[in-house]
Amino acid sequence: MRNKIVKFGLFGLGAVVEARVKNIFLKELKSSKVMAVFDKDLKKNKKYSKIFKCSFSENSREFFKKDFDICYISTDSGSHFQNILECFNNNKHVVVEKPPVLKVDQLIKLNNISINKKLKFFVIYQNRKNKAVQFTKNYLEKNKKEKIVLVNLKLLWCRKQSYYSRWHGKWKSDGGVLAQQGIHYIDLLCYFFGKPLKAIGNMENVSNKLQAEDTHAGLIKFQRANCTFGLSTALRPNDDGASIEIFLQKRVIILHGICCNKITIRNYDNKYKTKYKRISEQNYQKVKSGVGISHYNFFEEIIENFQKKTKISPLRAIETIDTLKLINMLYKSSEKKNWIQNAKIIKSRLGN
Ligand SMILES: NC(=O)c1ccc[n+]([C@@H]2O[C@H](COP(=O)([O-])OP(=O)(O)OC[C@H]3O[C@@H](n4cnc5c(N)ncnc54)[C@H](O)[C@@H]3O)[C@@H](O)[C@H]2O)c1
Repeated sequence: MRNKIVKFGLFGLGAVVEARVKNIFLKELKSSKVMAVFDKDLKKNKKYSKIFKCSFSENSREFFKKDFDICYISTDSGSHFQNILECFNNNKHVVVEKPPVLKVDQLIKLNNISINKKLKFFVIYQNRKNKAVQFTKNYLEKNKKEKIVLVNLKLLWCRKQSYYSRWHGKWKSDGGVLAQQGIHYIDLLCYFFGKPLKAIGNMENVSNKLQAEDTHAGLIKFQRANCTFGLSTALRPNDDGASIEIFLQKRVIILHGICCNKITIRNYDNKYKTKYKRISEQNYQKVKSGVGISHYNFFEEIIENFQKKTKISPLRAIETIDTLKLINMLYKSSEKKNWIQNAKIIKSRLGN
C-alpha cells in the first residue's frame, strides 16, 4: 500500500524557510506536499507560491481555506501565539519553529485548546536530533550513577547592529541572545539535565543597542546538574563558536561545532583515546549553517505520526515548557537581581 501524502501549509516565509525548510520539502521529504504558503510580505508570498506551485493566497483567510493538515509556522517569535490560535480556529494541526511562544501562560493556553480540539501541536528544536546530541543523551541516561560535577554553556557569536533593526532584540517579538540564539542550547540543557529548579542571570548590551540583551551570563541549578553559562552576540567580526562542556567525575563530554554537530570526549587520565576518537567520528555531521540538518528528522517524524506508522510522538510543544520557563526565569532574575525558583507560571518582560 502506498503511503498517505501528508499535506502542509507554510505560514511565514523568511530566513529559516530559505535556509533549510524550502529544500526539505522540495528535495528531501518523500510523503509530503506543500499545498499552500503565506507571508504578509507580498514578494515572498508570490515567490514561494511559484516555488511550491500552489495557488496564490491573498490573505491568511484564503490560506487557511486551502486543503492541508498541518501548518508550519515560522513568523517572528512574538507572532507565534496569535498565528497558532488562528491555526487552531481553522482546525489545522501545528508545527512551530522555536520558541513555540514567548510566554508560559500562552503555551499552556494553546496546549489546552489543542487537547480540546484534538489537534496536534509540535515544536522544532532541531538540535535535539543531532547525532552528537543523541549520543550524549543516551550516555547520560545509561550512566546515571556517574556524577556530573559541572556543566558550562558558552555561546560567543557575532550579530551586527543591523540584525536588530526589524523584530530581533525587542521584548514583544523576540528577546535577546538568550531567547533567540541561546534557547537552542538552553533547550538541550533541559533535555539532558531535567527540570531547572532555580536560576540567576545578569544581562548587558556590550556591542549592540537593543531593548533586550546582547550578552547574558548566569547560573542554573537543574535537577541533575549545576550549570554556568555565558551567551553573547557581541563578538566582532565573526562568531567564535558555541559549546556545552559536561564535566563528569572522570571525563568531560564536549558538544561543539556550529550547532552541536560535533562531540569530543576526554578522560582526565587520557585513557580510551582511540575509542573516543571513533565516537567523535561516528557522531559528526557535516552542516552548511547554524540551522544544521536535523529539521528533516522533525518533519519526517511528524509525517510518520500522521501516517500512523509509529506510535513515537514528535516533540510536543508542551514538553518543552521548562525551556520556556527557564528563559523567563532568567529574564525575571536579571530584572529582580535575584535567584528565581521554578513555578507553575513565570512571567517576565519577554513577550510584553
Ligand atoms: N530552528 C532554527 O534554527 C531557527 C533559525 C532561525 C529562525 N528560527 C525561528 O523561526 C522564526 C522565523 O525566523 P526567521 O529568521 O525566518 O525570520 P524572518 O523575519 O526572516 O521571517 C519571518 C517571516 O514571517 C513573516 N510574517 C510575520 N508575521 C506574519 C503574519 N502575521 N502573517 C504572515 N507572515 C508573517 C514575515 O513577513 C517574514 O517573512 C522565529 O521564531 C525564529 O526564532 C528558527
